[in-house]
Amino acid sequence: MDIKKIMVIGAGQMGGGIAQVCAQAGFDVKLNDIKEESYAKGLAVITKNLSRNVEKGRMTEDEKAKTLGRITKSFDLDDAADVDLVIEAAVENMDIKRTIFGQLDKIAPAHTILASNTSSLPITEIAAATNRPEKVIGMHFMNPVPVMKLVEIIRGLATADEVYQAVEDMTNKLAKVPVEVNDFPGFVANRILMPMINEAIYTLYEGVAKEEAIDEVMRLGMNHPMGPLQLADFIGLDTCLYIMETLHEGFGDSKYRPCPLLRKYVKAGWLGKKSGRGFYVYN
Ligand code: CAA
Repeated sequence: MDIKKIMVIGAGQMGGGIAQVCAQAGFDVKLNDIKEESYAKGLAVITKNLSRNVEKGRMTEDEKAKTLGRITKSFDLDDAADVDLVIEAAVENMDIKRTIFGQLDKIAPAHTILASNTSSLPITEIAAATNRPEKVIGMHFMNPVPVMKLVEIIRGLATADEVYQAVEDMTNKLAKVPVEVNDFPGFVANRILMPMINEAIYTLYEGVAKEEAIDEVMRLGMNHPMGPLQLADFIGLDTCLYIMETLHEGFGDSKYRPCPLLRKYVKAGWLGKKSGRGFYVYN
């Protein structure tokens, strides 16, 4: 299974980052979105990141131009007709993902691997929307994608060994570190990270300490690069809530109940950095 051509679905924060690292590693990438505006925004971020690499001497102008030249725009899933791998990074909604995977299954050649960058939705359920569940897999990149080394590779119930191997090899070519994980709610990253963030929110909710104090304890005491509340703002509070709900529902265990304060902030539209306000205020 030789992967050369890739399609990335979704030109947002995650999809744009994935397209960038794939193009930097020499893959031809079709970056697909439903909106011209989202594509333009995604490409602008990629261009800015590559320019910073040039400024920092990590890349030449020529390499930057070649990397950008490997990214082509797409607004039609039919463009998956000649790719070897699709990495879906659309919204975290099971119905939308199942619809996309069902369509891709009809369009993409038989050998094409269909991967999802979902942060917690079951790969097995996404795979069941296709007639090729053995070729469906999770590729969970971390934010910010160009910086973070890890890719959780999630085996669905039916994922074939050779598909896992091809995706692991391809991840190594991106200069990322693949880690093999089975398909259970939250996989490994979010099963551990989100309850910590949720507990930090409970700590605030119960008045144990203020935002800055909670974050400082974890930054200085545990050497975390960001405190949990700052990280929650960075990830998006709606995403944090969604993942906690997935854990709560998936395990049926009250230890995963989302903090009422998290629900309140999301209802208020305080979604973190992207909305200008979360646990902190952003300008
Ligand atoms: N895109 C590209 N590059 C970025 C970036 C971005 N969004 N943000 C920061 N960088 C780069 C900077 O350009 C800088 O690079 P150079 O100076 O070498 O050019 C480098 O990263 C360091 O950035 P800063 O000096 O501005 O700040 P920092 O040292 O605090 O690092 C950070 C920023 C890497 C984001 C760091 O704070 C960090 O590691 N935070 C935690 C990130 C984390 O936990 N991510 C996982 C989130 S969970 C997830 O993604 C899974 C999920 O499903 C929810």
